[in-house]
Amino acid sequence: MPRSIVLKTAVPGPASAALGKRRLESVPRGIAHWTPIFAARAEGALVEDVDGNRFLDFAGGIGTLNVGHANPEVVRAASAQLARFTHTAFSVAMYEGYVALAEKLNRITPGAFPKKTLLVNSGAEAVENAVKIARHYTGREAAVVFEHAFHGRTLLTMSMTSKVQPYKLGFGPFAPEIYRLPYPAAFPGSPAEGPGNRPEATLQEFFSVHVAAEKVACVALELVAGEGGFLVARPDFVRTLERFCREHGILLVIDEIQTGFGRTGRMFACEHYGIAPDLLTMAKSLGGGLPIAAVTGRADVLDASQVGGLGGTYGGNPAACAAALASIEFLEKNRLAERAEAIGRTVRDRFLRLASRFPFIGDVRGLGAMQAMELVRDRATREPDKERTNRVIQTAYENGLILISAGTWGNVIRTLMPLVITDDQLEEGLDVLESALG
Ligand SMILES: Cc1ncc(COP(=O)(O)O)c(C=O)c1O
Repeated sequence: MPRSIVLKTAVPGPASAALGKRRLESVPRGIAHWTPIFAARAEGALVEDVDGNRFLDFAGGIGTLNVGHANPEVVRAASAQLARFTHTAFSVAMYEGYVALAEKLNRITPGAFPKKTLLVNSGAEAVENAVKIARHYTGREAAVVFEHAFHGRTLLTMSMTSKVQPYKLGFGPFAPEIYRLPYPAAFPGSPAEGPGNRPEATLQEFFSVHVAAEKVACVALELVAGEGGFLVARPDFVRTLERFCREHGILLVIDEIQTGFGRTGRMFACEHYGIAPDLLTMAKSLGGGLPIAAVTGRADVLDASQVGGLGGTYGGNPAACAAALASIEFLEKNRLAERAEAIGRTVRDRFLRLASRFPFIGDVRGLGAMQAMELVRDRATREPDKERTNRVIQTAYENGLILISAGTWGNVIRTLMPLVITDDQLEEGLDVLESALG
């Protein structure tokens, strides 16, 4: 098979470097960039830059492109909608696409109860609205979140986010009434009595020491902590949490912004856990590359707020709705959740083999195609090795593979490749990663 990666210049090439200079002059430095390349076109799991270099993409627009770059069916649906009309504002003149997408999300999300869907523009906006809605419905103010969480960059969602550097440093004061539990992950070598290992006792103690359960509107949880380094929540903790929430009138918000739409081997990660949250937040791969996000959940909860209390000028833009419908249809038709399972197995097998070769791989973890390796200085102490992680990512990029890290200490390499990646492309990308490690 011919290689997918084609590097015509050293990277960044001259055209990317020239644009990079303009970017430094015109765009705030606070916006990070994982690579210094500028895209010219992209297709499937490939990105071509303005110098004609072709990269394999294991970042997928940070988990946004489960259906692949420039998916033809998504492009066709969005283009056809753009030719009809670009925008009316759903609160001024409504259109079928919004309703059709709401119907679709109400159908495919977990839970056999009546549901409704609010459409917004970004993941942060979805989480922010979920908390607003939960507060209105319950008449309570507090929100409980977890260590290593990432929920967005707006004031409320930044306050809910756990990572200080770079997300919070200097941006306070933060929103009040947010309380934080340890993330209920099973760490290798963690003591049997760690926080996630005693779910009932952990919750009883937390709601005695930190905040009264009757003051809590919602608990928001990522079942796989995306930016937090692909920590996977323990099923026993999640099920206990769901029961505890129900018993105490607390709404359970599951943030599936990174885990949703097939990424973990099911349409939603909730399906692995057999839970149906009161509110589910979605974004990223919902729109197949266009900006759209959603809150789907119990109809009685979503209907609680007054008319005009929810919405926004662009929420559920018609082209984004058309793209989302086409994207979901493509995922279903091509069984991309099953494909994610297979991709995940291949990645995990390779990562485990690499872990037996390289002592600095401290852990391999994930769910479905959301796999990660954690790089450490010493397996016994688990001291994070961010410098090595950055070196590996840089070497991979110089050899044509786009990779991104995650984790509170920046020492986790994660995979978010488009699920349309071919087997040959997957092997080629893993070979580049393997060489970058050694
Ligand atoms: C789990 C999770 N929630 C919320 C967000 C915020 O989404 P957005 O960047 O679209 O605001 C992200 C983004 O990475 C995410 O991974």
